[in-house]
Amino acid sequence: TVLVVDFGAQYAQLIARRVREARVFSEIVPSDMPVAEMLAKNPAAIILSGGPSSVYAEGAPSLDASLFEAGVPVFGMCYGFQLMATALGGTVDNSGAREYGRTELSVSKPASTLFEGTPAEQQVWMSHGDACSAAPAGFDVTASTSVVPVAAFENDDKKLYGVQYHPEVLHSTHGQQVLEHFLYRGAGIEPNWTTGNVIDEQVEEIRARVGTKRAICGLSGGVDSAVAAALVQRAIGSQLTCVYVDHGLMRKGETEQVEKDFVAATGVQLKVVDAADRFLDALAGVSDPEQKRKIIGREFIRVFEQAQAEIVAENAADGADVAFLVQGTLYPDVVESGGGTGTANIKSHHNVGGLPEDLEFELIEPLRKLFKDEVRAVGQELGLPEEIVQRQPFPGPGLGIRIVGEVTRERLDLLREADAIAREELTAAGLDRQIWQCPVVLLADVRSVGVQGDGRTYGHPIVLRPVSSEDAMTADWSRLPYETLERISTRITNEVADVNRVVLDVTSKPPGTIEWE
Ligand code: XMP
Repeated sequence: TVLVVDFGAQYAQLIARRVREARVFSEIVPSDMPVAEMLAKNPAAIILSGGPSSVYAEGAPSLDASLFEAGVPVFGMCYGFQLMATALGGTVDNSGAREYGRTELSVSKPASTLFEGTPAEQQVWMSHGDACSAAPAGFDVTASTSVVPVAAFENDDKKLYGVQYHPEVLHSTHGQQVLEHFLYRGAGIEPNWTTGNVIDEQVEEIRARVGTKRAICGLSGGVDSAVAAALVQRAIGSQLTCVYVDHGLMRKGETEQVEKDFVAATGVQLKVVDAADRFLDALAGVSDPEQKRKIIGREFIRVFEQAQAEIVAENAADGADVAFLVQGTLYPDVVESGGGTGTANIKSHHNVGGLPEDLEFELIEPLRKLFKDEVRAVGQELGLPEEIVQRQPFPGPGLGIRIVGEVTRERLDLLREADAIAREELTAAGLDRQIWQCPVVLLADVRSVGVQGDGRTYGHPIVLRPVSSEDAMTADWSRLPYETLERISTRITNEVADVNRVVLDVTSKPPGTIEWE
């Protein structure tokens, strides 16, 4: 494994993903983990991430210099690079030599371990206030910029490497190559990690853990719970029961997808709870988004717990103990809930941070170490249908938070139709992989005048919100082809009663969130 030491501000996750894209397993550790503990994990290499601090700031995270004496190859990036420089006797000044954004890097040692085979001039992404003016003794300076004399250095004998920029971001055009040079050439690691190993390893582990007991899994219709369930099903077969709560806020065809396609692909035992009436009753008269979210969350837990209790009781009658609950927790959830430092507590995910204390189940979280794209690869290998594996994110509260105004059955039907048309046309145009997701929102509290046929109409607008993103933390509005937008607009206004206008949301996140509520 390669350890990525997290100095905060979201960089570590991206680095860990890039390492895995290089087919090497990676794990994020907090920067306050003692060096001895890091070394006890027997890492093949260690990467020091960037971070928001200046190495001179009070309370800035630091690192015990003994790390560099342990004989483990180390690669420092940005803040990690500066820490390495100061720890080993180089000079870092906060002289105002700052750089932000795209920068031209000049490689001065083309035969160096990191840069061999990459262009002499390359674009990199910089984000720093301090700058290294002298490399530590024994290090070769391998690149510079017009502002920074020491933008990269290496000591090949000691297997220590560093760059001032962020090789993990796509704006650094040769960043992945440089990272791979470190892993393969610098640290001598064989790239052989695949998601296939994960399946075998997890199946074996889950079988051993569960033994003859039973497990329950809640299916949301999303990728994560589906893949987690399929993986556990592979391991323990009919000892697993899945529960699907139909809250009536799903999109067109989604419940059927779970009921038919998922069951057909996995052979899983499924209990479907039709709770649409209950949710709609609870939502009657409510327009406030936060209140809607709370109501949906609360009802969901109640319905799910009841189904859970029923399954436990049925099995107890047969003398079987339901002892495990399967959850589709992903690695970013684990890291963001406190698995790392600096980035902690951005969101407290209810499936990690907020478990009830009297939890009577043990958790099985087979995707705990995986990123989203890896989960998709696992799902594919398990033979799940493409429509499930490649599903774009869809919020738990479903269409309930895509109707601005009160949620009613009629409005849901209307939005479901409009959403289905948008999805159909985006798929037909081959745009699914290009966008992160495209919420379709009904402005139920807004009316505008239109003309259709010979008559005046007074209908509702539908908003299209296509976005591109890597992790939903930030997003940009997608530049969709006009022809596709036109087809969606024409079809929605023709085919969906009461809608006489389609508008496009051209706001990035921030300032707008992806969802409207
Ligand atoms: P926002 O609207 O905050 O959304 O930019 C970021 C991402 O999270 C999804 N989302 C949710 N997912 N439960 C979920 O499981 C929720 O309550 C929820 N709210 C937003 C949203 O679709 C986007 O992908």
